[in-house]
Amino acid sequence: MAIRNIRIMGDPVLSKTAKEVDGVTPRIRQLILDMLDTMYEAGGVGLAAPQVGILKRIVVIDVTPEGNSPIVLINPVIVESSGKQIGDEGCLSLPGKAGVVTRPNYVKVKAYDINMREVIYEGTELLARAFCHELDHLDGHMYVEKVEGSLHDTQAES
Ligand code: NI
Repeated sequence: MAIRNIRIMGDPVLSKTAKEVDGVTPRIRQLILDMLDTMYEAGGVGLAAPQVGILKRIVVIDVTPEGNSPIVLINPVIVESSGKQIGDEGCLSLPGKAGVVTRPNYVKVKAYDINMREVIYEGTELLARAFCHELDHLDGHMYVEKVEGSLHDTQAES
């Protein structure tokens, strides 16, 4: 188990575009495992590689309360989305804050898994929101750019 340091908003790495992954080397496999450990340890539902300072198109997500359904996305793209949800969103790169963001209520993502096999995921509600939020990180975008109104403080959860 290796916990990586989560970069905080203002760190230049968070506003850069991440690069596509050609293949899963032992180093990238370790990065993915570390990202999962880091996300779970921080109590988050998603983490993108730029948040640990690595400009690669890799995302991990787990929206289950049990934290037993990890999703690994390499080179993810949104291929379909529909509907609308309006709700609070936060980010491990901006602890203690949240704000209202409108996202599609349904999102279909195409990506590669840790074995570079093509995978398709469909998500609604929180999972759809997580897909959008994490994929934005790969293009150097934070949710705060999309917040309607102002950020508010969240209660410390972890
Ligand atoms: Ni985030």
